[in-house]
Amino acid sequence: MNHIDTAEMYGSGRVEELVGDAIAGIERERLFIVTKVMPGNASFRGTLAAAERSLERLRCGYLDLLLLHWPGAHPLEETMRAFDTLVERGKTRFVGVSNFDVEEMIEAAGYLRAPLACNQVLYHLGERGIERRLAAAARERRIAIVAYTPFGRGAFLRSAASRAALERVAEKHGATARQVVLAFLTRDPNLFTIPKASRLEHVEENARAGKLELDAADVAAIEEAFPLGAPGPLATL
Ligand SMILES: NC(=O)c1ccc[n+]([C@@H]2O[C@H](COP(=O)([O-])OP(=O)(O)OC[C@H]3O[C@@H](n4cnc5c(N)ncnc54)[C@H](OP(=O)(O)O)[C@@H]3O)[C@@H](O)[C@H]2O)c1
Repeated sequence: MNHIDTAEMYGSGRVEELVGDAIAGIERERLFIVTKVMPGNASFRGTLAAAERSLERLRCGYLDLLLLHWPGAHPLEETMRAFDTLVERGKTRFVGVSNFDVEEMIEAAGYLRAPLACNQVLYHLGERGIERRLAAAARERRIAIVAYTPFGRGAFLRSAASRAALERVAEKHGATARQVVLAFLTRDPNLFTIPKASRLEHVEENARAGKLELDAADVAAIEEAFPLGAPGPLATL
């Protein structure tokens, strides 16, 4: 719950400034601050400069994790070399990637001297594509998977039958459907998730999901209600 996810892209830097305001006065060690460099800025020098700009906007001495937002414009080797430089200079504790498929993720890890800490990817009940290959490939290499958009913009609540399946599991545990969703997505210790909530009661509800453990029957019921389906646009993940 102390994992704060932002990016230089969000609000063209404005969101990092808002995060800077929000965390002012909080002991730095209590926070885990993550930001992302845009692919267009991710040349060797561009990455170093982007990290400095982010640190300035966040008003922090260091980042906990810096990600390449998605694969793109510059040779990956250059970005990873800059990431190593930033780790060595103490500007970030960890580095990772986002929206990388299996091959790209392995390639990125191969360029780094530091460990590739994570791959932040889309993962929710309506889009379980990462379970085909990516989740296992990441687990084997001790690269954490960080699931973004875990509620899939609420799509999972639209079908009455699948909602009922979630609610049955929720009722059994005295939990809410959204807590069941978060517990399902983090059922493997290598899987993390970053739900966004601006309402305090949502934050608290989501935090309590950390205490919920699903059993094999719960997991099977959810898998049946939200099938993996035919490979979709994310089939390469
Ligand atoms: N790497 C990438 O390319 C990438 C792409 C997209 C997102 N992300 C990151 O992932 C984060 C989350 O993704 P997201 O915002 O797209 O989707 P999300 O977390 O799946 O959904 C956010 C929505 O769910 C609502 N919500 C959260 N908890 C709730 C609860 N307990 N009950 C009812 N509603 C609840 C929020 O409402 P309220 O705000 O009203 O509480 C908000 O409308 C983003 O903030 C961003 O940091 C990364």
